[in-house]
Amino acid sequence: MGVYAVTGSASGMGRAVVDKLTAAGHTVIGVDIQAADVVADLSTGEGRRGAVREVLSLAGGKLDGAVLAAGVGPVPGADRLPLIASVNYLGVVELLDGWRAALAASGSAKVVVFGSNSTTTTPAVPRRTVKALLSGDTAKAARTVRLFGKTAPPMMYAGSKIAVTRWVRRHATTQEWAGAGIRLNVLAPGAIMTPLLEKQLSTPSEAKVIRRFPVPVGGFGDAGQLGDWVVFMLSDAANFLCGSVVFVDGGSDAYFRPDAWPRPVPVSRLVPYAWKFLRYSGNR
Ligand code: NAI
Repeated sequence: MGVYAVTGSASGMGRAVVDKLTAAGHTVIGVDIQAADVVADLSTGEGRRGAVREVLSLAGGKLDGAVLAAGVGPVPGADRLPLIASVNYLGVVELLDGWRAALAASGSAKVVVFGSNSTTTTPAVPRRTVKALLSGDTAKAARTVRLFGKTAPPMMYAGSKIAVTRWVRRHATTQEWAGAGIRLNVLAPGAIMTPLLEKQLSTPSEAKVIRRFPVPVGGFGDAGQLGDWVVFMLSDAANFLCGSVVFVDGGSDAYFRPDAWPRPVPVSRLVPYAWKFLRYSGNR
């Protein structure tokens, strides 16, 4: 049986994951702003450092996996932009950085980060928003979307999820992560019926947009079923899953972008391998 850290453990999909892991006999250390083993506000540096420290202490320095589900939706209000950025981006990457050695200690750890299908279905998310986040500057990221007015929160939300997804894909294949036996992957849900979505549906203008959004299979996703996907991505079935982004969104991503992916690798990315190959051939 394993030891798992789950953020966003008090509600929605994080809560579903906790229930399923616990029922299967695993030990779960829940992290949330309320009602959790580790109570921490992931929007602050102090809260994130506390969450890292307390989880490591409760886990005894070894984690078999982590699920990063804490997140803030695209709540209205310009003052909420830094909050969305800090919880959804720093609340993932700073915790993973802090837990990396404990995950490596397990030898075959799995990490599931909650992305979102907003990453591929929100138009015109500024590149500089994502760039600012990847450099860790949440205040700058917030400034880059302010000019969008009422649509700034969905921009910030999508930007934070793009940045966190990109962070996972950049790190997943490195010596520090894949090389240390840690599988980093992203689960990208569509609209799933949880308190986060219920909050959005309670705002008439947002509800109209959400209900009109094309979902080929129809309706909303179920939090328990998303929990099953997470448990699967934490199991041995995921030993060969690395840097993947798994969309569970009723088909919206495929509907909007049927030909966007897969794409051939850019030639520039292969140049270092061509040199290595030429050098190798020359040595023979
Ligand atoms: P939820 O609102 O039910 O749960 C989110 C949890 O994060 C809550 O327990 C909340 O207390 C915690 N949290 C929020 N701010 C925090 C903070 N500052 N410090 C510590 N904990 C904090 O949401 P849901 O729907 O279960 O979302 C889980 C993840 O899935 C989130 O990352 C969300 O962005 C993502 N997601 C959700 C979708 C949906 O339609 N529900 C769609 C796509 C992605």
